[in-house]
Amino acid sequence: MNSFKEEIQKRRTFAIISHPDAGKTTLTEKLLLYGGAINLAGSVKGKRTAKHAVSDWMEIEKQRGISVTSSVLQFKYNGYCINILDTPGHEDFSEDTYRTLMAADSAVMVIDGSKGVEKQTIKLFKVCVMRNIPIITFINKMDRDAKSPFDLLEDIENVLGINTYPVNWPIGSGKEFKGVFDRNTEKILSFTANNGQKEVEKKELALDDPRLDEILGQYLKQDLFDEIELLDGAGDEFDLDAVREGKLTPVFFGSALTNFGVEPFLEQFLKLTTSPIARETISEEVDPMSDDFSAFVFKIQANMNKAHRDRIAFMRICSGKFEKNMEVYHVQGKKKMRLSQPQQIMAQEREIVEEAYAGDIIGVFDPGLFSIGDTICSPSHKVQFKGIPTFAPEHFARVRQKDTMKRKQFIKGTSQIAQEGAIQIFQELDAGMEEVIVGVVGVLQFDVLKYRLENEYNVDIIMENLPYEYIRWIVNEDVDPKTLDLASDTKRIQDLKGNHLLLFTSYWSIDWALDHNKGLELREFGTN
Ligand code: G4P
Repeated sequence: MNSFKEEIQKRRTFAIISHPDAGKTTLTEKLLLYGGAINLAGSVKGKRTAKHAVSDWMEIEKQRGISVTSSVLQFKYNGYCINILDTPGHEDFSEDTYRTLMAADSAVMVIDGSKGVEKQTIKLFKVCVMRNIPIITFINKMDRDAKSPFDLLEDIENVLGINTYPVNWPIGSGKEFKGVFDRNTEKILSFTANNGQKEVEKKELALDDPRLDEILGQYLKQDLFDEIELLDGAGDEFDLDAVREGKLTPVFFGSALTNFGVEPFLEQFLKLTTSPIARETISEEVDPMSDDFSAFVFKIQANMNKAHRDRIAFMRICSGKFEKNMEVYHVQGKKKMRLSQPQQIMAQEREIVEEAYAGDIIGVFDPGLFSIGDTICSPSHKVQFKGIPTFAPEHFARVRQKDTMKRKQFIKGTSQIAQEGAIQIFQELDAGMEEVIVGVVGVLQFDVLKYRLENEYNVDIIMENLPYEYIRWIVNEDVDPKTLDLASDTKRIQDLKGNHLLLFTSYWSIDWALDHNKGLELREFGTN
């Protein structure tokens, strides 16, 4: 095998998702530590201190303690090259999570053992299941009082509709946490509490070890034996194909803060997942090992560095090798180009990349050329990836600038933020851009819009919430929306490409529109 193929085979690219506070940042930090990418525990983030996460770029994230944008980190471990894609920890940004998942080959789901699958996270986790990629679960904070592991698994199965396979099994939790039983090696990895030290001492014990009584105590030992029997008898069988298809999630119990169970998790994770696999384009499947370069844009992030007012397009390489200064073809722009300032994020540092391979994510400077879903490929072998679906917005507001002199900045700001996919903008029929209708999937996106327009574009806005909840694209191209017979609470609008849409306050008015306009076809989703 040549080194080009070896490089691709070494790649593991995964997204990490969790409810805020479940421990995603802590787990990421520990994973990076194993890769030697950072050398000081706590350097990723101390939320209550002045330090902030490498992955939290925006001011609003620091203020709110939530992660709004997604970032990418790369590190090397045991001959592997691992790309972690961070995702926003709030369901209002589940569309962003979905786009990030498009760029990932697998996902790690972090769950707080004391809380289980939390209400606000259901939507986030569900988008993960929609992608049919392997999902590996890490149930965190076992050093705190946790729910029964059986209840936790049931939670995941019921809410997400996928089966679970516990790879290890916790012995007690909180003050009683004694460690985990590894179902594969049939050994106990014992946990020693140590007054908050970062690294805990690890001891491996066989089930017939005479010290077991003393270490676990009679009661927990008996519980463990009973539970192992129950699991072996009644639990799902391990099935690697089902894992790879996203139908069975392997579950690990551990404690990221005390660094317990993180390394075994990482090692198993690398075995359970694969290097990049073939991806569909409109015309063919691209083999990651192909010599022809191909990539798609899954994220656009403006003003990551306020001083530079830059805009970065993140692309996932799907095949071949990227080399700095090589010529590529931008399919949607129908143009040959060279990608400028290609960069990768290594822990805190952004580095210019000389080369990158299928599986890697690179960020390139974007002067406004790219949109989400765009394909970049080798000029000698043109392909086009299928677009990334946009979610139907569920909340709408009319937005206009306070100071009419700021019209230019207002248009620029709203258009750029829409191009990033953070919001969707629409107009009243035949109206100008002085006033737009903004649609979002989660209401927090309105706050981000307001904040960013004020801080990055210097525009104060007035936002008036609208009562609509459903949006439909009109499929028929020959229909003039003005001639449609609609309920009085239905609104006619258009998107920036001139497509016609309707806004409804209820399903009843959607039915009304369909009943009163023969042949009218409505579609729920748009595409980029
Ligand atoms: P997030 O990125 O998912 O939002 O969570 P994060 O890692 O920031 O963790 C949230 C809080 O939970 C942090 O405490 C963190 O120290 C704690 N934590 C993470 N993993 C574990 C664990 O395994 N056991 C226990 N007991 N706690 C854990 P904090 O007080 O909110 O912040 P900080 O001041 O410690 O940073």
